[in-house]
Amino acid sequence: MTQQLAAGRQDPLATKLGWAIFITFFILFFNIINLPRTPLGEREFLQMMHDSMGLIVGVLCWIRVYWFVKGPAPTPPEGVPAASFAFGRMILFVLIFTFAIEFVIGTLYAWGEGRDIVLFGWHVPQMVATTESLRLLSGYPHSALAFYYLMLMSLWMAVGIWQQIKYKAGWRRLFPGELV
Ligand code: HEM
Repeated sequence: MTQQLAAGRQDPLATKLGWAIFITFFILFFNIINLPRTPLGEREFLQMMHDSMGLIVGVLCWIRVYWFVKGPAPTPPEGVPAASFAFGRMILFVLIFTFAIEFVIGTLYAWGEGRDIVLFGWHVPQMVATTESLRLLSGYPHSALAFYYLMLMSLWMAVGIWQQIKYKAGWRRLFPGELV
């Protein structure tokens, strides 16, 4: 299957997943900006949206992580050395994996706080007991990982811009699509 992919292109499933993650995370991002600024007691709608969009992003990212491992590996675009290409792919993989982990930790955080998880109106049964240690162990990483993925996004852009300047790899591949 790998041989069927042209250089610098990825398969249709990876392309669709890329777009889906890009769009859903973009929506979640606006929610993340507003959620901590909203006074306690007025967050119900934003929390429902956060958990619902977080779930969608999380599930899509776990599928993408699986596809990274199992799916056909793309070959570098013309002119980009294999090591440089692999470096960029690794940044992307860690970014997607971080989102996937963020979803799991976020779920534990909500239960650690004793907060009801509501997905588009459906109440998820609590599966882990509410304790202070769970709240602390999940809450801090959930917040801290936000800085980590912002750093990864910046690194991804910086490496992509560098590859464009040095190898003329193309700008379009920095965004979702079939070009890698
Ligand atoms: C990829 C998915 C997710 C990302 C990127 C994300 C990111 C964030 C960020 C940046 C915050 C603000 C941090 C802060 O106030 O310190 C936050 C808050 C929170 N998130 Fe997530 N989250 C995700 C998924 C989830 C999920 C699926 C749940 C639970 C089902 C969840 C539960 C929470 C809780 C309980 C808070 C605190 C909300 C509040 O203070 O009212 N997160 N999340």
